[in-house]
Amino acid sequence: MLLTPLPFLALSLSSLPLTLALAQDANSPLTPAPTPTPTPTLTKRQVAGGSGTPILSTLFFPYTALPTQVYPFPVLRGPQFGYNQCGAANATATADCQTLVFNNASDFCLWGSPDPNGAIGDVEAKVVSYCTNPQWGGRPIPPGALHGVQFMRTSAYIQIVGFIDNTALGLASSDTGGELDPHGADLQGNPLGGVVYSTDQAFIDGTEPGQVHNWNLFVGSGVFCLKACFNSITSPDYCENRYDLVGCEFNMPNSLANGTFEACEGALQTPVGTYVSAGQTLTWSMPDPLTTDPPYTPVIPSSSNCRTFASGELFASGGSGGASGSNSGGAGSTSGAPGSPTHASGSGSGSNSANPSQTGTSGARAVGVNSMSDVAIIGLGVVGGFWGCGRFGGCFRWA
Ligand SMILES: *[C@@H]1O[C@H](CO)[C@@H](O)[C@H](O)[C@H]1NC(C)=O
Ligand SMILES: *[C@@H]1O[C@H](CO)[C@@H](O)[C@H](O)[C@H]1NC(C)=O
Ligand SMILES: *[C@@H]1O[C@H](CO)[C@@H](O)[C@H](O)[C@H]1NC(C)=O
Repeated sequence: MLLTPLPFLALSLSSLPLTLALAQDANSPLTPAPTPTPTPTLTKRQVAGGSGTPILSTLFFPYTALPTQVYPFPVLRGPQFGYNQCGAANATATADCQTLVFNNASDFCLWGSPDPNGAIGDVEAKVVSYCTNPQWGGRPIPPGALHGVQFMRTSAYIQIVGFIDNTALGLASSDTGGELDPHGADLQGNPLGGVVYSTDQAFIDGTEPGQVHNWNLFVGSGVFCLKACFNSITSPDYCENRYDLVGCEFNMPNSLANGTFEACEGALQTPVGTYVSAGQTLTWSMPDPLTTDPPYTPVIPSSSNCRTFASGELFASGGSGGASGSNSGGAGSTSGAPGSPTHASGSGSGSNSANPSQTGTSGARAVGVNSMSDVAIIGLGVVGGFWGCGRFGGCFRWA
């Protein structure tokens, strides 16, 4: 989640007392106008970037040279909660590893709560890694907690979406979750000090995982989606993190089906917020709070060369697993082909019509995490008050 500066909001809020004062002055012209309190300015905003407060997304380390903590600085929300030197020796159920490794369909970590019964909105700064493979030092993900995954490798990113029991990630089963990324309100990241690595060929550094500079992850409501954007491709930004209220369905359109485990090659997504209508490419800006449904239905990119697995093939040992899946999807097959799971569109579930989590008749479910109720959770849990005004010394738009 990113708080982007919103100058007009800062202006309108900070000038409100002055406006009232002027109105009062009009009624009592002899009263001297009070000296307005200084307007918060950009330079007074407390975001990382100043001396001694590095911006998390600019901190790069070889995997084998990670410091104990990449963000030990006691500034803003810092220092970070956990540590970054993680390995098999400390891959226990109480590990506080904040290094996440994402390699493929069987070998990945997710962020989850360090405390039992957690809610992402409350713990986003201190989420820790939970991994299928003990090598990376996260808390173990029990194999039975995963009910389906779809891994997609494209020319610009790798992505995995899946069904997972909330409780396997330390989350309350009712937690609708939220979005995590290396930016965050104050540019210290969520988790603060969290770094992501991959051995995918786009990132690998010799034989070691290479750092993923831009990524995002949604988790909650029994689903997750994680995308690692190739460092070589910065435009368009497929890991855009400003659409955090519309979940996996919009940020990582997919055809995940419960009970299916597959790894595919995929065509590129349309960057979130971009859509084509009547031949025109349009951009939607997400309102915050989310007061209207997005004006488009996300297009699920085509996929090819899908290999399907039995769950046990991927996660049997809790390790990286074998990868000898059957090649069930010929080149050119698409995820939306008849008979295959399709995105269920139509009425939303629960209290929120914009909630992308929907159940289709086939049992397929397009993964979406956030709902409008998350807005409150995330907004209150993190920024509080005036949509980001105050806590960090200025006004920001929570996005
Ligand atoms: C975790 O274990 C790895 C070796 O597997 C070690 O390099 C690292 O220092 C340990 N980290 C902590 C915090 O104990
Ligand atoms: C997926 O299927 C499992 C049973 O295999 C079930 O327990 C779980 O609730 C399902 N998840 C979702 C999100 O539908
Ligand atoms: C994932 O990567 C690991 C380690 O390189 C490998 O052992 C495993 O077979 C891979 N899994 C899949 C599904 O490709």
